[in-house]
Amino acid sequence: MNRRNFLRSVFGFLIALIGGKLILDFLKFDVNRQKTIRIPIMDIKDFPTVIDGVIVWKSSGGFNLYSSHCTHLGCILKFDKNRGIFECPCHGSRFNLDGKVIHGPARKKLRKLDYTVQDGKIFVKL
Ligand code: FES
Repeated sequence: MNRRNFLRSVFGFLIALIGGKLILDFLKFDVNRQKTIRIPIMDIKDFPTVIDGVIVWKSSGGFNLYSSHCTHLGCILKFDKNRGIFECPCHGSRFNLDGKVIHGPARKKLRKLDYTVQDGKIFVKL
C-alpha cells in the first residue's frame, strides 16, 4: 500500500466514523424525543378539533384525545362535522369517533392519547 492509498483509507475510515456517530446521535435523539402539549380546558369544544397535533373534544364521558396523524402514512386528519367522522385528505381513510377505521387504506385505529389534568390544562405526551 502506497502512501496515497493509506491516507485515503484513513480518511474514509474517519468519515465513516463521524457519519456513524452523527446517525446514532440523531436516532438516539429521535427515540428519546417526547413532546408534552398543554391544552387549556377552556379551548376544548364539544366537537373534535385539532390542537397542536392532537384531536380533542369533550363529551359526557370526559375528554377524548387522539393523535391527529393518520395511521396510514401520517397525514393530518380533518373532522367532517356533517358525517361525524375523521377523514384523511391524502388517501381517503376514514375513522369513526372511537378511532376505528371505517374506510382504508389505513388499517390501524387512531392512537388514543393519555392525559392528565392540572391547573385548568390538559397535559398530553406525544
Ligand atoms: S396518509 Fe391517510 S390515508 Fe394515506
